[in-house]
Amino acid sequence: MEWIQNLKNLLGKNIIEDETSILKKYASDYTEDLEYLPQVVAMPSTVDEVSKILRFCNENKIPVTPRGAGTGLSGGSLPIEGGVSLSMENFNSILNIDEENFQATVESGVINETFQQAVKERGLFYPPDPASKGSCFLGGNVAHSSGGPKALKYGTTKDYVLNLEVVLPNGNVIWTGADTLKNSTGYNLTQLMIGSEGTLGVVTKIVFKLLPLPKHDLLMLAKFKSIDDACKAVPQIFIKGLNPSALELMEKSAVQYVIDHSPETHFQIEEHTQAYLLIEVDGNDIDLLFKDCEGINNVLETSNVIEVQFADTAEQKEKLWKIRRSIGEMVKLHSTYKEEDAVVKRANLPALMTGVKSLGEEYGFESVCYGHAGDGNLHINILKGEMTDEKWNGHHLEEGIRKIFRLCKSLGGTISGEHGIGLVQKKYMNEVLTPIHFDLMKGIKKTFDPNGILNPGKIWE
Ligand code: LAC
Ligand code: ZN
Repeated sequence: MEWIQNLKNLLGKNIIEDETSILKKYASDYTEDLEYLPQVVAMPSTVDEVSKILRFCNENKIPVTPRGAGTGLSGGSLPIEGGVSLSMENFNSILNIDEENFQATVESGVINETFQQAVKERGLFYPPDPASKGSCFLGGNVAHSSGGPKALKYGTTKDYVLNLEVVLPNGNVIWTGADTLKNSTGYNLTQLMIGSEGTLGVVTKIVFKLLPLPKHDLLMLAKFKSIDDACKAVPQIFIKGLNPSALELMEKSAVQYVIDHSPETHFQIEEHTQAYLLIEVDGNDIDLLFKDCEGINNVLETSNVIEVQFADTAEQKEKLWKIRRSIGEMVKLHSTYKEEDAVVKRANLPALMTGVKSLGEEYGFESVCYGHAGDGNLHINILKGEMTDEKWNGHHLEEGIRKIFRLCKSLGGTISGEHGIGLVQKKYMNEVLTPIHFDLMKGIKKTFDPNGILNPGKIWE
């Protein structure tokens, strides 16, 4: 095609690829089994190259879908209208760690865990820790305001971004704010970009705020004979004035899939256990942390817990966290699944869980649930199993999922806590937003991207 040759000529060698074998690698992310082939993959290394690509595509009305590591679960990086898949994989430098000001500047293709480790070596702390932290890019985290277990005490990505370098769809390059802890200077363009899923601009650099690294953490695993008991214990911990750094829920079947698909796990599920809470506390005073654990233990004992185990060594902690973090991938190995990222007010989690299970019975789907219970954020994995494609993609299942989201809304919640809307959740957006919201969002989109070239077909129908 002529535009492809023109784009190649403009950027020079090795930046624009259109070999089918390469296109295939950029056709899917972690979302279900979806595949959309881009026409080319662009792999720029500089802001200037990103700007040239966007300016060219804007003038020629070619769709551009920005892409991080492809670990997203809502299809945000799928190039559903073909065009250019804009991979940020070469933006992988940590540019500066400013210990004096507790901040760091990175390119957007740096892997989350690489960044966490780099700041940790200097006694600094970057808390957002999505399950995919070993591979996901910080730019993708910004695109979705990703969370992870530590979001409970420390907040999500949005709470750590001070400033962003962004290439706009017309090729202009801006910094959205200032490298300061406070900023009351006009509209907050930084926060507008966060969670915009690559529909308003392409993030090339990020300035993050950092914290002092907590010196200690303790981890407990609580076993329950019903998932309802586990969910009911969660709000009680906070009501008693305790403030864990993570409070995660795992339904028994979620843990079972991890054991089934990674035999090196060495974890035994006892007969009566139906659900687990994984509870972490962190801080600088180890005696206080033991006291917190005692307080949590007391709450659990009045909440029908079967048993509470402490992870005594770093290895035991890592083993439990690995089980928790690998659930999503292991469920996927078990079956194609739809990931719902429901979030409700924390004390409404038991009602959400009961509702999900009874909707499963009514609509004939099996669900595996786990997630960030302390945030009221439940990952509901609906398994395809033996379901025919027709049923899987059909109206009946869609109605069942719609009812889950209707329930979320009635429980003070919404349809995504940390995975975003992307492609697969957009049809449910009208459960929580009105035409007034859509008009406002579409107006913003038009201001940034009048030709609609950037990540088209995402967030709303
Ligand atoms: C997790 C991902 C799926 O919490 O958000 O495992
Ligand atoms: Zn999660």
